[in-house]
Amino acid sequence: MMSSRSGIHGRFDVAASAEAEGSAASAHATSRAMTREGGPLSAESRATPLEAGRATRAEPAVPAFAGVSPLERLEMELLLEAIHRHYGYDFRQYAPSSLRRRLKRRLEGEGLATFSALQDRVLHEPAAMEALLRDMSVNVTGMFRDPTFFRSLREKVVPMLRTYPSVRIWHAGCASGEEVYAMAILLEEEGLYERSRLYATDMNAEALEHARTGIFPIARMREYTTNYLQAGGTRSFSEYYTASYGAALFHARLRENVLFAQHNLATDTSFSEFNVILCRNVLIYFDRDLKERTLRLFGDSLSPLGFLCLGRRESLRFTKVEQEFEELDPKERIYRRAGPPRPHREVELEGHLDRELAPSSRPTRTRGTG
Ligand SMILES: C[S@@+](CC[C@H](N)C(=O)[O-])C[C@H]1O[C@@H](n2cnc3c(N)ncnc32)[C@H](O)[C@@H]1O
Repeated sequence: MMSSRSGIHGRFDVAASAEAEGSAASAHATSRAMTREGGPLSAESRATPLEAGRATRAEPAVPAFAGVSPLERLEMELLLEAIHRHYGYDFRQYAPSSLRRRLKRRLEGEGLATFSALQDRVLHEPAAMEALLRDMSVNVTGMFRDPTFFRSLREKVVPMLRTYPSVRIWHAGCASGEEVYAMAILLEEEGLYERSRLYATDMNAEALEHARTGIFPIARMREYTTNYLQAGGTRSFSEYYTASYGAALFHARLRENVLFAQHNLATDTSFSEFNVILCRNVLIYFDRDLKERTLRLFGDSLSPLGFLCLGRRESLRFTKVEQEFEELDPKERIYRRAGPPRPHREVELEGHLDRELAPSSRPTRTRGTG
């Protein structure tokens, strides 16, 4: 059940900064006050208070939307502001075009005409917020998705991981976990699973619940088997699951060394240090600033010479961190942290997470380092 930010459970760290706290109704009230004070608004006067307010800010809350009226843009900004302040989810720096498309879809789904009406509904009906979150969180995923990426991991990254006494891997934006199970299988076959710890995070608690079950549609096993073989799989893929009542239940061992937990890349901090970070097909939904913030977070969370893996349509090119990495496999978007090792950072959550490391465990709300 969705609740206000104070009730959101199981997160490494929410950005519970005091400045974000406040009356949920205030953003809505502000919208009404603007209209009342301004009377019937011309297109020009509609834009003026918003633009004037913005002039004092470093960055607009939502980047420009092409072809969107100033009023709709204002309503969208207020909606996102209200969601952030009441629920703690921050979509204000998502890429504008897909953001608007998804919000529009929710508008239609709710049978509402304006973003102000949607704001009212999501603030007062947590179920409407859950539905919005589902629309905002694109959970398309699969096992051994982009098989050549997994083959490259096996051939180029695994030999280096083999020299480490232990391996820590972060799957950021893991959706319903298929990518994580694929990684567990790969590590198992390479004899590394025993000494590996996988941290699988997503902002979407429902997707994580699914991931914890290890149950996936049997209808996709044929596709996954093909992917697995193309990715260099060395056994029979069906060894890893039991088929039952139209579902494939993956063996519990594959999640024994996995911690699934809620973490939001837009608001939460770094929580540990990793040898490998995978964040595939997530950054495409972010605007430039949020992408930079997230990459900074990854830079701060990677051990010296650690590996960063992005999605096919994502890259470090023209980003501020580009110089800190070298391309290990440019086509597969596998990067390796370059440069001198950084001094070791104390990792506050380490003990906490390791204690919690059990398939069904959830971290309690706590502060991360960062
Ligand atoms: C398309 S899926 C990618 C799944 C998997 N990495 C893959 O490539 O198959 C994108 C995931 O990113 C998650 N996501 C979007 N914004 C996020 C954020 N701010 N913090 C954490 N996860 C986020 C979504 O909930 C969704 O599960």
